[in-house]
Amino acid sequence: MDSKKIINDINKDIESVSDIKSLNEVRNNYLGKSGVITLLRADIKNIKPEDKKEYGMKVNELFNYFNEVYGKKLDSINDAILNEKLVSEKIDVTLPGIRLNNGGGYHPITKVKNELEDLFISMGYDVVTGSELEDDLHCFEMLNIPKDHPARDTQDTFYISDELLLRTQTSAVQARFMEDVKNHKPFKIVAPGKTYRRDNDDATHSHQFYQMEGLVIGEDISLADLKGTLLEFAKKMFGEERTVRFRPSFFPFTEPSYEVDISCFKCGGKGCNICKQTGWIEILGSGMVHPNVLKSCGIDSDKYRGFAFGIGIERVAMLKYGINNIRDFYMNDVRFLDTYNRVDGGDNNETI
Ligand code: DAH
Repeated sequence: MDSKKIINDINKDIESVSDIKSLNEVRNNYLGKSGVITLLRADIKNIKPEDKKEYGMKVNELFNYFNEVYGKKLDSINDAILNEKLVSEKIDVTLPGIRLNNGGGYHPITKVKNELEDLFISMGYDVVTGSELEDDLHCFEMLNIPKDHPARDTQDTFYISDELLLRTQTSAVQARFMEDVKNHKPFKIVAPGKTYRRDNDDATHSHQFYQMEGLVIGEDISLADLKGTLLEFAKKMFGEERTVRFRPSFFPFTEPSYEVDISCFKCGGKGCNICKQTGWIEILGSGMVHPNVLKSCGIDSDKYRGFAFGIGIERVAMLKYGINNIRDFYMNDVRFLDTYNRVDGGDNNETI
């Protein structure tokens, strides 16, 4: 057996290959069924007994040598494959990501509701909720609207039974809250929520809509507090240059009562299509809480006074986002919802 020649052959064969498949072929040529080293090992039976030991050792040395160079070559090929992969699959971790458009987003009404809540919370209000299923007592009677009162005609009601109804106004929460906290005054609350009326749906009316009620009760609350509060609301929701205008009006639960307008945020008061050339946009109803309401809720009307207001959330959202049809809010058209998610730095598809 010429060990030196075999070692040379092994070196040459291993050196000549550069991929795993060819390397395995070489391995097969030496260690496979009829490989060079396998055949040498099998030949031991033909070796004279006194030479067997030395012969066996030499074959083993060849076997070990082959495995050593084979192993080194295998490592170097694997390293090369890995390096190539690292180069070809290089990822630039500094590139900005793209947000996927599948994470959902807030409905424009929810956005406006949250914005209003944040605004009033920042002014020290608590956010409370009431029930959409109400009784006649809290939705009307306690708010100074007895059974035969004409104001009921303007709030065509879905009655469930003689006494139970779907609330027509979040003002019902006023009655509930005052009744509950009789002995824990003063307080400031806003109550957002769904309301229902038997209106025919059109571009500006819906049988279901959202309101946010505000109620402040204390010992020396005056109309000036109401004015200051609503001016702050107008500025925060529609721009710092806004002013407010109070027009005398009527609501059974407030006296005096006012409709409040804000100066037009589009034309600044000159007159345009949004303010119908008047320079003013009607935005909400408000007033000083009627003593009858305080009394019916168990509050001492000689000692306590307060103001209240009711904001139509859809109305604010329509003005803010330039939406002309109230029905758009309830159609669940994802294209519409998506648009208004992007309006104010929305959550979809921008780079992060
Ligand atoms: N509840 C009234 C409505 O639905 C809105 C309203 C007006 C609420 C004046 C008030 C208020 O609290 O003081 O039309």
